[in-house]
Amino acid sequence: MKICILMGSPRLNKNTAELCKPFIDELKQQGAEVEYIALHDKKIAPCLGCYYCQTISDEYDCEHEDDMTAIVESILCADVLVFATPIYTWQATPKIKTVMDRMYSLNKFYGGTPRKSLNARQSYALIATCGYDLDYGAGLLDEGIRRWCAHSGAEYLGMYAVRDEDDLASFQTAEAIDGARRFAQSLLKKEAGITSRRYNMLTDFAAVCRFLEATFDADTLNSYLLPHYFEYAHHHSYFDFKNDHRMGLWEKNGNIVGIAAYEMKLGEAHLHATQPFLLPQMLDWAEREISVEKDGKRTLKVWITEKEPQKRDLLKANGYSLVHSEAVTVFRYTNDFIDRPLPKGYKIIDGTQVDYAKLAECYWRGFNHEGEMPADNIEGNKKSSNAPRANKSLMTIIVAPNGEYACALGMWLDEQNGYAYLEPLATVPQHRRKGLATIALTTAMKKTKALGAEYCYGGAGEFYTAIGFETINRRELWQML
Ligand SMILES: Cc1cc2nc3c(=O)[nH]c(=O)nc-3n(C[C@H](O)[C@H](O)[C@H](O)COP(=O)(O)O)c2cc1C
Repeated sequence: MKICILMGSPRLNKNTAELCKPFIDELKQQGAEVEYIALHDKKIAPCLGCYYCQTISDEYDCEHEDDMTAIVESILCADVLVFATPIYTWQATPKIKTVMDRMYSLNKFYGGTPRKSLNARQSYALIATCGYDLDYGAGLLDEGIRRWCAHSGAEYLGMYAVRDEDDLASFQTAEAIDGARRFAQSLLKKEAGITSRRYNMLTDFAAVCRFLEATFDADTLNSYLLPHYFEYAHHHSYFDFKNDHRMGLWEKNGNIVGIAAYEMKLGEAHLHATQPFLLPQMLDWAEREISVEKDGKRTLKVWITEKEPQKRDLLKANGYSLVHSEAVTVFRYTNDFIDRPLPKGYKIIDGTQVDYAKLAECYWRGFNHEGEMPADNIEGNKKSSNAPRANKSLMTIIVAPNGEYACALGMWLDEQNGYAYLEPLATVPQHRRKGLATIALTTAMKKTKALGAEYCYGGAGEFYTAIGFETINRRELWQML
């Protein structure tokens, strides 16, 4: 996105110029291209009111030949045109006002040519500094630009104004700087037509899964917010159903373009957006909505992958530190599968024949829980095994000679992106060291290969690397300190 800033103060290093600095810095950080033009030394003659420009169709032209020609070129290249001006006598400075008048040539409304605005799809915004309180000092200019935009078909994205109470120092306060940064973020968001709102699990779940599938990136892994990771968590009994409205969605024309989500519980966030400039506001959202209170202060952890330098820089800039890192592994189906013999008396079944009580018991003991399994775990397992895209014929269970389930796994298939996703996998302690997990995993992976998958995501432990999984990335957990 291109932003052209016309700075109209004759004082190059004072209030208005100072307020532009954090604004420009934020725009650049968000990936916008910025052109800053200080008008103080530009030769721009006042409009003659000759209407010559209205006799010329389809291009800017003027009786004056001066610096306005080059300025118009910059204006027309921009998506957003920002006027930055001190208020002089309730108006913009003469330089800014002259540019505005000379932009008459872009509105072909008054001649014989077809009625047309040459920059109708452009947006305008205003940065103002003034001596009086904001509404009284800058309100008239704000309203004037609003009317001008309505008249010429441009969109007005609004004004950011700061009052000069203490000369330059008023524009160097944390509040003024933060306001300028937020104004930059809101311009980019409005210009992109993006709105944000709370997640509603009942109505948004399927659309989020489609979004995650459609935007899957095998390189960055989108902070590991993989579609089936999201879906599995939503059907898990540990999932915090009371707070899912705290996740945030960003949309453009009704289509999701970003999500700030937790996996199972508040306290740990994943941020994923198709447009990187959304990330700072998504982090703001997560700090507000997904953080938890610990020792009297709010804290948040954010998951990224090591291949997301922009997210890492954002976290560092906001005072986060790396507190944990773990391997992301895959088994590529171009490799040979390890074929191990099934120990005597054990048999393999798939999820179409599942006994949920046995399955729940297998996961309870297989994940090393102590004591009696809570009775509602059976319903919990039934629920996650019947998630919309859970596939019972890929679910693989090894039944022990005594009939109990010794090892079980769930296997998911992302047909669109051609990979399999393992979640969960557990072996009951007394059936370990018999190769059952390898056998179950190999059985399920072979099935997904036959269905078109090219590789399978596994876990971070030694078990995976020992059977041929390779590390393709690392998940990193950053904590707000
Ligand atoms: C000639 C002149 C006219 C001004 N008129 C107004 C005005 O009408 N309303 C107002 O609120 N401030 C007015 N001010 C104050 C400036 O808008 C304010 O100090 C501004 O921050 C100066 O910006 P700069 O440092 O970028 O030049 C005026 C200042 C000057 C020099």
